[in-house]
Amino acid sequence: MAVRAHPDLGTSPILREVAEGLSAPQKELSPKYFYDHRGSELFEEITRLPEYYPTRAERSILEEWMPELVARLGTRTLLELGAGSAEKSRVILDAMRAAGTAERYVPIDVSATFLSQTAARLRREYPGLSVEPAVADIAEELNLPRRLPRPALFAFLGSTIGNFYPPSAIRLLGRVRAAMEPGDRFLMGADLRKDVARIEAAYNDSRGVTAEFNRNMLRVLNQELGADFDPEAFGHLAFYDTVAHRIEMHLVSDGRQTVSIPGIGQVEFAAGETLRTEISCKHDRASVAALFEPAGLRIESWRTDPEGLFALVVGAPV
Ligand code: SAH
Ligand code: AVI
Repeated sequence: MAVRAHPDLGTSPILREVAEGLSAPQKELSPKYFYDHRGSELFEEITRLPEYYPTRAERSILEEWMPELVARLGTRTLLELGAGSAEKSRVILDAMRAAGTAERYVPIDVSATFLSQTAARLRREYPGLSVEPAVADIAEELNLPRRLPRPALFAFLGSTIGNFYPPSAIRLLGRVRAAMEPGDRFLMGADLRKDVARIEAAYNDSRGVTAEFNRNMLRVLNQELGADFDPEAFGHLAFYDTVAHRIEMHLVSDGRQTVSIPGIGQVEFAAGETLRTEISCKHDRASVAALFEPAGLRIESWRTDPEGLFALVVGAPV
């Protein structure tokens, strides 16, 4: 049977990855499968929810810090991993413009059509800035343009680092480090450990937007692989693991069901069985250092919002 290729992600590596994830004892898929155009829009909606504090907290630190940091570094290129709508990135771009050093913006994302929309909007908003988007899976490659105006600031905002298991997070940071030249810096957002109820509320919003975002993964698999998941037959589950310091998001099968995926076959779900769709690790300074050090980065500076909910970290090559 023909398998329709995902324009954003490529074909056979996905099938292999999805087949592997769905045959594990704990079924699990990468959160990158949330992000087709609709998934990116749903994430934007999440960032505006009253319960979802990370975006507002991170933005407040950026506003406070970027004008001074960017002027001091003389940043000419902003290269951003998982850029999404680049809403907060505008705070950095504004600071570069104010310093008179804004030359290039390289947003990298797996969500292709959403990324090109973001790039088009930024070209209109920042005339004179060269905007060079790149579609790539940052878990696999960085796909950077060869030459960049230096110094460059590599940004990884939103605490998206928390969506990677530590070994892949370290490999990803190692790739960033390898692309850095002396004078470049790495700016990373990290959601901090805090009251469990506050964290769990952020992933269980009262309007059910996070639940829709979670179910969107099944719609992506239906659309891109021709699977026949019934998204309404899966419930949303998000809980905090206080030992691993992370949120886990799952989709819970309402009853016993069989799903067909062309090229993979039949996948059985028992009643109540879950598919893990995301982890979102929460940090403190030591846990960030434990990711940075093996990747060849050191924490140069660390700032939090007044409530201590979120941290922005500047990393420098060791
Ligand atoms: N930086 C934005 C968006 C965060 S949402 C913010 O802070 O609000 C996470 C973003 O990372 C999405 O745009 C998603 O498409 C992208 N993303 C997730 N996994 C990815 C991967 N493996 N490779 C590239 N981009 C990825
Ligand atoms: C993109 N990432 C940092 C978000 C997070 O909080 O882990 C994704 C998300 N999942 C549920 N809500 C938001």
